[in-house]
Amino acid sequence: MNLDARNRDRDAHGVMPAWPYPRLVAHRCGGKLAPENTLAGFDACVRHGYSMVEFDAKLSADNRVYLLHDDDLDRTTNGHGPAKVQPWDALAALDAGSWFGAQFDGTRLPTLEQAAERCERDGIFANIEIKPCPGRDVETGERVARAALKLWRSATPLLSSFSFDALAAARDAAPSLPRGMLFETIPADWLAIVRELDCVALHADHTEFTEPLVAQIRAAGLRTLAYTVNDPARARLLAQWGVDLICTDRLDLLTADLL
Ligand code: G3P
Ligand code: MG
Repeated sequence: MNLDARNRDRDAHGVMPAWPYPRLVAHRCGGKLAPENTLAGFDACVRHGYSMVEFDAKLSADNRVYLLHDDDLDRTTNGHGPAKVQPWDALAALDAGSWFGAQFDGTRLPTLEQAAERCERDGIFANIEIKPCPGRDVETGERVARAALKLWRSATPLLSSFSFDALAAARDAAPSLPRGMLFETIPADWLAIVRELDCVALHADHTEFTEPLVAQIRAAGLRTLAYTVNDPARARLLAQWGVDLICTDRLDLLTADLL
């Protein structure tokens, strides 16, 4: 759907960007129910009735876009050291599942193409977090945005990043894709930052949000995403305040009924 300024809808809080996305988002594909940032996470989403995932996208040394959270390979694969120096062929051979559980032995790091195929096949929306390797912000923003524009056909993905430079590059490469600026700590000048990046949403650590701040962000015509919300009571409160996207590891605890 078209999310540009001509296609905004009005809700009780004012003029807001049109919004096709569901309230609940599975963090790193399958939260804590599958090895993070793998296709096994999509299976967990389907099992638990989730229709949106968040995942982290970065570049291999030879510029393939693939899913991985950390700068280094050690925590979530059987590889070692910085991911940024590895070409895709080496990354594709790694086991990205056995660290999580023996039943996931042989799980591979997915490419962005594979993630897009699963989204299309299972009717799942995507929040693609651009997570550049150190020093590769601009090229990662550009390449992820271009690839996302090409690969997602039926449902517009939402791009986000903690990196201003990556999101600015994504804006320039694929202006039509909606963007959310990510903050660990929401700075005093948040509005100037999101305006400069022409964002539709502000994404932040859930502990940063208060009811008045959510109202202020909504009054500015912006949507919100809160991460990582694993407590059902907190999720319910954030939803009552009007937080649009609640990103969680606990697909088993946070249900649409609960909210
Ligand atoms: O995009 C929300 C959330 O994923 C940001 O934190 O570190 O899990 O990528 P992180
Ligand atoms: Mg992330």
